[in-house]
Amino acid sequence: TGAAGAKVFTLGLQPGETRFKDGPATRTWGVNGTYLGPTIRARRGDLVECAVRNGLDRETSLHWHGMRLPAAMDGGPHQTVRPGETWAPKWTVDQPAATLWYHPHVHGATGDHTYRGLTGLFIVDDDATDALNLPSRYGVDDIPLIVQDRAFDGANQFEQPVPLGGSLGVIGDEIVINGAIGPYFDVTTRLVRLRLLNGSNARMYNFGFSDDRRFALVATDGGLLATPWETDRLSLSPGERAEVVVAFTAGERVELRSYPSANGGALGRLDGFDDRFDLCQFRAAGALSDDTELPAVLGAAPDLAGQPVARERTFALASDRINGQAMAMDRIDFGVREGTVEVWEVTNDNGFLHNFHVHDVQFQVLAVDGGPPEPPLRGWKDTVLLVQGKRYRLAMRFSGHTDPNTPYMYHCHLLQHEDDGMMGQFVVL
Ligand code: C2O
Ligand code: CU
Ligand code: CU
Repeated sequence: TGAAGAKVFTLGLQPGETRFKDGPATRTWGVNGTYLGPTIRARRGDLVECAVRNGLDRETSLHWHGMRLPAAMDGGPHQTVRPGETWAPKWTVDQPAATLWYHPHVHGATGDHTYRGLTGLFIVDDDATDALNLPSRYGVDDIPLIVQDRAFDGANQFEQPVPLGGSLGVIGDEIVINGAIGPYFDVTTRLVRLRLLNGSNARMYNFGFSDDRRFALVATDGGLLATPWETDRLSLSPGERAEVVVAFTAGERVELRSYPSANGGALGRLDGFDDRFDLCQFRAAGALSDDTELPAVLGAAPDLAGQPVARERTFALASDRINGQAMAMDRIDFGVREGTVEVWEVTNDNGFLHNFHVHDVQFQVLAVDGGPPEPPLRGWKDTVLLVQGKRYRLAMRFSGHTDPNTPYMYHCHLLQHEDDGMMGQFVVL
């Protein structure tokens, strides 16, 4: 029961057992199930009411990654839910159609809780996107792919191995797609849209197909690109999403793979980032229906480039710190003014892999090292890979939700780094 017209989602966080492979089942956590959670779907303008019931044996939270919403509804480390309690956030969805997601965010244990399985997609729809004739039948030609790596011990239980040097956090050697190892998908349409989420704690993926076919990137974290971008490789760091459209022909089988990362280098090999492995197979056995299309124009490009900038800030990430400081729950690092545009310049100063995520906003990457960003960084983003030594200038407008007492987070989305303190807090005033 909720307010008139509200969309109500009841989400039970619970322990369970999941069978990933032969032998014993794996002890996991799930949302309304044993592993992962339901895809939540709401339209721009909807009032959303959630009931998050914690049926686990410890305090946790559920954060709506990528969502514009009041800080008290964000599900960050200040909105934890104790065992047996129910948290009931509500907000009005006010942002373009996009593939968002949810995961726990309790400080110091985000990596552990996420690894156990509390992850799902939150898809936002809007009229403008519906008016395009993109593939959009969920489970038929619009397919979510939650991509995670996991390590199993001899009794099939999850391990959380930290590789040599411990610089990254957990890297697993098995790839789990939507909770299954080595799944396949029966293709029934010529065009298929894949909603890719890198839901791993630390691993990078460089997506491509086994025959190097090209595909079109149509959306990034915060929604549609202005125009599709054709490519044969697409790399996502932890927390990033992408929507791609790929064409199949009747009778074929093709693997979606991860290829060695362009940004991996020697360090990438050391830390397990330089791998090549299959993710899932696409099988187009019968005749394929063909009633969707890839439009030449998709959405509106981000428009913050020419805006007056109220404030510039710099953020240097190194050694589990941002600007030399570790996250402290009782320290708010700064306040931003509602309605204003800020430019944040972010750098990776220590050569390990880091990315940068900001709550409550989608940002525009204005420049990377003074030059225009690559096409995958030209749409709205909430998480961006930081290649060592490059300067990322991010423009963002804080609008709609003010609260002097409840902070939002910004942090590296390699979850071990976040848990170790590579995170800060800001309020919108
Ligand atoms: Cu996906 Cu602050 O998190
Ligand atoms: Cu987030
Ligand atoms: Cu990091």
